[in-house]
Amino acid sequence: MHHERIAILDYGSQYTRLITRRLRELGAFGLVYGPNATAEEIAGADLKGVILSGGPNSVLEAGAPPIDHAIFELGVPVLGICYGQQLMARDFGGQLHRAAKREYGKATIRVNDSDSVLFQGLDPDQVVWMSHGDHVEKAPEGYTVTATTPGVPVAAMEHRGLRRFGIQFHPEVTHSQHGNAVLLNFLHVCGMKLDWNAGHFIDQKIETIRKQVGNGTVVLGLSGGVDSSVAALLLHKAIGSQLTCVFVDTGLMRKDEMKQVQAAFAPFDLNVKWVDASKEFLSELKGVSDPEQKRKIIGRVFIEVFEQEAKATQAKFLGQGTLYPDVIESSGIGGAVLVKSHHNVGGLPERMNMQLVEPLRELFKDEVRRAGLALGLPEDMVWRHPFPGPGLAVRIPGPITPERVKILQEADAIFIEELKRSGWYKLTSQCFAVLLPVQTVGIMGDERTYENMCALRAVTSEDFMTADWARLPHELLETCAQRIVNEVKGINRVVFDITSKPPATIEYE
Ligand code: XMP
Repeated sequence: MHHERIAILDYGSQYTRLITRRLRELGAFGLVYGPNATAEEIAGADLKGVILSGGPNSVLEAGAPPIDHAIFELGVPVLGICYGQQLMARDFGGQLHRAAKREYGKATIRVNDSDSVLFQGLDPDQVVWMSHGDHVEKAPEGYTVTATTPGVPVAAMEHRGLRRFGIQFHPEVTHSQHGNAVLLNFLHVCGMKLDWNAGHFIDQKIETIRKQVGNGTVVLGLSGGVDSSVAALLLHKAIGSQLTCVFVDTGLMRKDEMKQVQAAFAPFDLNVKWVDASKEFLSELKGVSDPEQKRKIIGRVFIEVFEQEAKATQAKFLGQGTLYPDVIESSGIGGAVLVKSHHNVGGLPERMNMQLVEPLRELFKDEVRRAGLALGLPEDMVWRHPFPGPGLAVRIPGPITPERVKILQEADAIFIEELKRSGWYKLTSQCFAVLLPVQTVGIMGDERTYENMCALRAVTSEDFMTADWARLPHELLETCAQRIVNEVKGINRVVFDITSKPPATIEYE
């Protein structure tokens, strides 16, 4: 089964994966190739077009990645973006300008050719995202200049007869106002059917998973979060009983978490080992207050427990629900700062001599959700807020006791229940209760109380690097506060956190 495809030659741009993402949004499948891919390697009846990506090199430097010229003879449309455009210009005799400094950021291009195929139907003046040093000064013979900026004489060019297009800007970046429309115009020229969807993604991944795993076995840490859940279902669909999932209950999870995950997976006939390791975690954490210490202990105990279970399966492969943003975050690709080492099982593959199977590696979060729905994952699992690996340990500042965990689980469950009831759960990105290490005086009935204080945190966020506090209605907050104080023994006061990130973080530790 081969789906229509656009071949993307990756010259090293930090945006290459965004191109594939935009194509998928438009209903097209893009397959990324290395910069040295030959025409022979990318050719095929299913090939509908070629995109040459941007890249950090200068085409004028010795050693800059070249292009196999035969790619232009494949008879399919070619779109060069930034470095790709410059390669195309150089190979066909255009003139390049060697820049002294890089131009980076927003620019406005003027489209000056109403017959342009790439800009068909779009505003003549449009904001685009530029990130380049060199630019094309003079288009090759036969090419029409279709757009310019004050500093870039050939912001876009096209050879309509040969269906070759070059643009200096990055249409795949959201700051480019009509970026998707430009890509769509290109896809139309390619004659793509635009029917790519989550179902096709799943079919294709099943094929690649089977190829990678053969008759080997895979073990996967199932947390109940969207990523590991979707990875589990996908692997299960591909290799059935060759997959074993391990769910580790740390004792620091939300109320009834294991039961809920069990219920969600019950219809799927997955091999899951449900491990209750709460005693181990809580005993190792006894008396520990320092947040980093807590994280280290939890990470270590998790690895010990997981490793033991994984060893018993004798699996050669370790499945993980790594997404593309995690890949960037953990590697520093594209200038991203290493924020946190992402996986609880970090270091495990080397330790246990396992190979990774990461079927979601090129996807973004919203795409994983769509794949989850297509795989039949229940809606409430698909739309779950993220939950940190160290769990409630980082929501109980100070020492952790089983009693404090229980109190927090109850308060948190009430908060989440009310958010769902009022429709606010879907309007927010992450919401939870925190048990503060503060006791305050209260009065209940005729009795004076001296109990814990609970903070409610609700944020909206695109990527969790920044976040804003959610403007929850006062009535909703009132209901939550009343219910928590009335129903949870050990809490007599509730406060609502109105700090954004930065300067605060989302979690309390
Ligand atoms: P902060 O608190 O840094 O959180 O604003 C950003 C996002 O990351 C989650 N988080 C963690 N996730 N292990 C995890 O798996 C951790 O140690 C950890 N710390 C924070 C947090 O819940 C939020 O979604």
